[in-house]
Amino acid sequence: MKPTAPSAAERFSQSLTLIPELANVETVIRSTFRSDVTPMREIPDYLLSLGGKRIRPALTLLCARALGATQISRELVDIAAGIELIHMATLMHDDIIDESPVRRHKPSPYARYGVPLTLLSGDFLLTRAFGLCAKLDDKVIQATEQACIELVEGEALETPLHLQPHTVETSITIAERKTASLFRLAAFCAAHLSGASPEVIEEMSSFGQSLGVAFQMIDDILDVISDEATLGKRPGLDIAERKPSIVNMLWLKTGDVESKRLLTPPGDPTEPLYVRQSLEALRNGVVIGEAKDVANLYAERARTSLETAVRSTPGSSPEFVDTLFTIIEFALERLR
Ligand code: FPP
Ligand code: MG
Repeated sequence: MKPTAPSAAERFSQSLTLIPELANVETVIRSTFRSDVTPMREIPDYLLSLGGKRIRPALTLLCARALGATQISRELVDIAAGIELIHMATLMHDDIIDESPVRRHKPSPYARYGVPLTLLSGDFLLTRAFGLCAKLDDKVIQATEQACIELVEGEALETPLHLQPHTVETSITIAERKTASLFRLAAFCAAHLSGASPEVIEEMSSFGQSLGVAFQMIDDILDVISDEATLGKRPGLDIAERKPSIVNMLWLKTGDVESKRLLTPPGDPTEPLYVRQSLEALRNGVVIGEAKDVANLYAERARTSLETAVRSTPGSSPEFVDTLFTIIEFALERLR
């Protein structure tokens, strides 16, 4: 039998062996969980134990190597760890805001430890992240501040559909701020700390930004087309929570009376009927195809920015550049 070609996910996992320094990032992350107040160690440790791809640290290290860094500096490890800590803090706060009981197939930190301690653990991690990044240069500090501000703004803009009018454009703005900001930061820091030219730094930042938007679009689509076993949470939560996801916005834009009937009254996540009806309509309609087109558009933008950055970098490493292209493929592959 002819062997099947490895999937992009397998190729990506395989390529992580090219950056053994990811283990150092994990060590730095864990080293920040020190406190004589037990929940401040235990809750971050619990969230970390839920797994995850560590895509942001991997992106940071891979971008640096792709741009020709011959070794991963202590600064890169610290900022990669800081970015993951910020991401963890946002997940803790986001689960509280979404009242989300499940994350990655397990009780969310919020469900397990309650609001006050989970909120404080997020604050703890955010402060630790700034402790790491404050040792780095001004540009990294400023960029990290900007990314955190955008995270907060993105989350604040994500008001439910019945409370505020949203459009496809606002959905993309929210994705840019709440998700792409950390991807952009990862690529920016990698380029900046590798001594890239201002043009390459800008192009790499655009690569991170477009990749981040594509990731969020894909997440929004999977919320509709995937199942609980794959998602690690019930599908249709963006419908139940009346989120301005790209899928919901494209559906409302069609003018379909069903979209208005099912999406615009206040949501009740415990009421499964309208979620079932919405999922059925969306899975059998054209909107998912349109949302995939948007995800593909941002993936294509990411490829173009990466190509441009690499073309202007004489010492770039084709092996690591390939791995970055594989991340784009691996994200899109989840839609097949
Ligand atoms: C997950 O979105 C949430 C984010 C990507 C951003 C959350 C940002 C905040 C809570 C602001 C706080 C900021 C800081 C700096 C601590 P989602 O609900 O679509 O994804 P999910 O399914 O993983 O929950
Ligand atoms: Mg959420």
